[in-house]
Amino acid sequence: MELYIDTANIQEIKEALSWGCISGATTNPKIMSNEKSGYSFKQKILEIMELVKNPVSVEVTEEDCQNMVDEAKIYASWDEKIVIKIPMGIEGLKAVTQLERSEGVRTNVTAIMSTNQAILAALSGASYASIFYGRVSDMGYDPVEVINDTSRLFNEFNIRTKLIVGSIRSMLDVNKAFFAGADIVTVPFPILKKMTQNPKTEETVKEFNSIWREMKEKGLIKLDEEIPSRTLTFTLAKET
Ligand code: E4P
Repeated sequence: MELYIDTANIQEIKEALSWGCISGATTNPKIMSNEKSGYSFKQKILEIMELVKNPVSVEVTEEDCQNMVDEAKIYASWDEKIVIKIPMGIEGLKAVTQLERSEGVRTNVTAIMSTNQAILAALSGASYASIFYGRVSDMGYDPVEVINDTSRLFNEFNIRTKLIVGSIRSMLDVNKAFFAGADIVTVPFPILKKMTQNPKTEETVKEFNSIWREMKEKGLIKLDEEIPSRTLTFTLAKET
């Protein structure tokens, strides 16, 4: 079970990584274009690679096999943690086969909407297959079913391709994707942030801390100052 961040925004990546529970990142040409100000693509990717110590997906934009392979080899040469996102399709499958089997480049077959497509991605030797949760449901299909069928097949036949679920639009999508068998769910920053919050948690912490402060103000709790702050203990003073 792993969570990735689905962004190319440096601030968002920094912030999410600092929480310690995000292990990778995914980008795509649209996500890269969200970074409005002009920038060097290579520099931006290298900046991301500096921060993320695990796989980062970078997508090719060429559309025929040989051009995809050539583009992929350039990106893969920038950092060994880069995984090349190849769009699902005949040219894509050919490129994946070549990259995984002859070039030693790891691939992530992207924009997968069905179990059929995931089977092809796996059999072509892809390291990752990305099912697009939100876009599957846009077409009127149940993404949970697609993920669940794919995950059961992969487990049954001992397929090493890891299942990433992207196109996440709500917090519930994240849970449902994991329950359905996703190995990794890649989530936009605003949704990751929402996952940390719950009004009842905030209310509870506020309640506990205000009682604590009240006790301290009344002098009923005294902090043992000679103890180093990391292992700070307290003694309860007797109410008089
Ligand atoms: C996943 O790897 C993709 O980057 C992503 O989640 C695309 O989803 P969307 O364009 O439907 O938001």
